[in-house]
Amino acid sequence: MTTVLFQSDIDRGQWWRDELGRHVPDLDLRVWPEIGDKDDIDYALVWRPEIGLLRSLPKLKAILSLGAGVDHIFRDPDLPPGVPIARIVDPNLTARMTEYVLLYVLRYHRQVPTYEAFQADRIWRMLDQPAAGERPVGIMGLGELGADAGRQLADLGFDVAGWSRTKKDIAGIESFHGADGLETFLARTEILICLLPLTAATEGILGASLFAGLPDGAYLINAARGRHLVEEDLIPALDSGRLAGATLDVFREEPIPADHPFWRHPRITITPHVASISDPRSVAGLVADNIRRVEAGDQPLNLVDPAAGY
Ligand code: NAP
Ligand code: GLV
Repeated sequence: MTTVLFQSDIDRGQWWRDELGRHVPDLDLRVWPEIGDKDDIDYALVWRPEIGLLRSLPKLKAILSLGAGVDHIFRDPDLPPGVPIARIVDPNLTARMTEYVLLYVLRYHRQVPTYEAFQADRIWRMLDQPAAGERPVGIMGLGELGADAGRQLADLGFDVAGWSRTKKDIAGIESFHGADGLETFLARTEILICLLPLTAATEGILGASLFAGLPDGAYLINAARGRHLVEEDLIPALDSGRLAGATLDVFREEPIPADHPFWRHPRITITPHVASISDPRSVAGLVADNIRRVEAGDQPLNLVDPAAGY
């Protein structure tokens, strides 16, 4: 029997049981909080597990994140030592994030919010339209997701740069890295996309001082984590014209409260953390591969580094 604890804030326990069961024939999937005897649990397949839960599982062999990000696991200060943590790297997840990035970059590039406002007032007016090659787009985080979105933006002709911890060599993407590379990267970026992991080093990075480094009237697209953004700095940046618009898929508190000022701001576009969500139909096979690897005495694929936090 392979016993897997499942915890998620999305009600997908039965779907995961069906999909993972196709790949792990002796699966016993226990959906939190009905997890039975903790001694039985071999694997934890989780999104935002209860603080202390993972440490309380004496026979845990691996922690498998339900998503690409692992900040929801590292928020627990008392994780079981030595238990490997793996995340999702999946072409389907990557493709969906790239769709999201292309959609909102093109929306800003082609001035859709302005044309929508014109339509509301029955105004027929042409705006000057720069070519994609005249539009500098910058991606913070050039990992699995940022690199793919960057390549596809470059294929559309955009002038693409990326910023990461280490230098990258990706065709069509100018690479900036580290604290020293940030200022030059920001100064050339008219549409900024955040695809960083949330770590101690990146929390609150999207704040007033970063916005001050962008050209006037830049756009922000945050599809990474809500805690990258200093929320109280966003509306002043929009109202002063420093930023022309922001598209946010992620928030400090999800769902954002009904009285949150972001809901009503005319230059903020909100999506409910849907940029790219793991699809059990494509991800279950990857989870099963990792279970097989651990059973065979190997490390799971897509391990995260607890010291780096991603
Ligand atoms: P990844 O492959 O681990 O890539 C992370 C990138 O960020 C790497 O290029 C890394 O640099 C860079 N980075 C990390 N810390 C940095 C720092 N301090 N300064 C500069 N660059 C730094 O992650 P991924 O798979 O692309 O996913 C990125 C994030 O997207 C996830 O962590 C998650 O939060 C978010 N996400 C959101 C959704 C959604 O639906 N909204 C869906 C999936 C994922 P190096 O390459 O030099 O290490
Ligand atoms: C979603 O936010 C993920 O990390 O996969």
